[in-house]
Amino acid sequence: MSDVAKLTMPDGKELTLPAYTGTEQEKCLDISALRKETGYVTFDPGFGNTCPAKSSITFLNGEAGILRYRGYSIEDLCEKSDFNAVMYLVIYGELPTEEELATFLENLQKYSEVKPQLLKLYDALPQDTHPMIMVSSMLAGLSAHYPQFTNPQNEEEVEEAIFVALGQILPIVASAYCKNNDKEFKYPSDKNLSYGAGLLKMMFGDDYEVDADVDKILDELLILHADHEFNCSTSTARLVGSSQANIFASLSAAVQALWGPLHGGANQKVIEMLEEIAGEGGVEAIDKFLGMAKDKSNPFRLMGFGHRVYKNYDPRAKIIKKTCDKVIEKLGVEDPLLAVAQKLEAAALQDEYFTARKLYPNVDFYSGIVYRALNIPTEMYTPLFALGRLCGWIAHWREQNLDAGARIGRPRQLYVGPTERSL
Ligand code: SDX
Repeated sequence: MSDVAKLTMPDGKELTLPAYTGTEQEKCLDISALRKETGYVTFDPGFGNTCPAKSSITFLNGEAGILRYRGYSIEDLCEKSDFNAVMYLVIYGELPTEEELATFLENLQKYSEVKPQLLKLYDALPQDTHPMIMVSSMLAGLSAHYPQFTNPQNEEEVEEAIFVALGQILPIVASAYCKNNDKEFKYPSDKNLSYGAGLLKMMFGDDYEVDADVDKILDELLILHADHEFNCSTSTARLVGSSQANIFASLSAAVQALWGPLHGGANQKVIEMLEEIAGEGGVEAIDKFLGMAKDKSNPFRLMGFGHRVYKNYDPRAKIIKKTCDKVIEKLGVEDPLLAVAQKLEAAALQDEYFTARKLYPNVDFYSGIVYRALNIPTEMYTPLFALGRLCGWIAHWREQNLDAGARIGRPRQLYVGPTERSL
């Protein structure tokens, strides 16, 4: 359905803007002729009011706290599906039949080992390199090792490149952990493990026993991180891909964007913040940190709180919070940070500064507590976010790449620098 909006310019010129309505009744104005017709561009720092494309992958409603992949709610997918099927759904648009899933996993298995020469890239990096640098470098390196799959205009090549990226992200993430922890990296003997179980065995050794509940919990976390429409890192993958850079280059760039502490890097920062609060008196120090978060002269922000789109409780955070309680009980771990997190959340949700700005816990607030319970080191939290989100980046890159009307992304500016002057 499309209707129109009328725009009257300062010089009195009238412009008719087509308006579109999406399948979930969201509305947008088409301003693609604005500059040509009026010489004006729009000003929208952070793109909070701008959609660069139509998409069929993920729907989220920030006010109602709704998140669906290809129409299926995350609640349903966490309960009735698994991450392997969700990867397929997010990328290809439908849940796979048993046969389709088997073929998909066989294709990933074809590329489930990283070329030994590529692994040598780690030797060029300092010992304590952050694993997000290692993961991004390795993804970029796949362009060099699989040049035959780097032509975005060849659909068969793109499909094989997708299998390479999905097949190798697991050993790439796990080998980065092993390298940084002086462990020998080995592939698991069982070739039919879930992503989560495969990761834990590659990180902690082939004889590491993966508890079935822990496997399910990790699988659920991967589902919850799979996609989130046009967030910063997904928009990065799309923008890089819009220049017809290959998919490996676009994914490598997306990893770097995700690493930012305002984005996926927040899951590591949340734990570091909770450790800092615990070190300064724990629950007694909460008011002090809330005060810092509210003080505009202080750069401190409450990590794991707030969201550009969710002005309600992040539906993923709700599920992860329940999972957090389950895993803590299952593993019988006592984590003092959990008590600090719960008290901090309760205090913030009663504080007018946070409620007035609709700042609620987001996906990153509790995920780190779950990873801690699984003895996963803090610096691996954001790589685990990337492990889940890879299929979402791929889905968006592929959707744009298949769109015959897609153009190179090239935003404009409002120039406020020096006017012409002579030397
Ligand atoms: C992810 O986009 C996605 O979908 C991302 C993601 C995904 O799945 O891809 O959901 C994953 O990145 C989750 C967010 C993780 N980041 C953090 O937890 C970092 C802490 N949060 C903030 O930095 C912030 O809330 C952002 C970055 C998440 C959102 O930033 P916005 O939308 O630009 O919000 P804003 O800076 O305009 O804030 C609005 C107001 C401001 O105060 P006022 O100027 O109105 O007085 O809220 C304040 C901000 O100062 N504010 C915070 C705050 N977040 C916002 N104040 C204290 N602590 C915070 N965390």
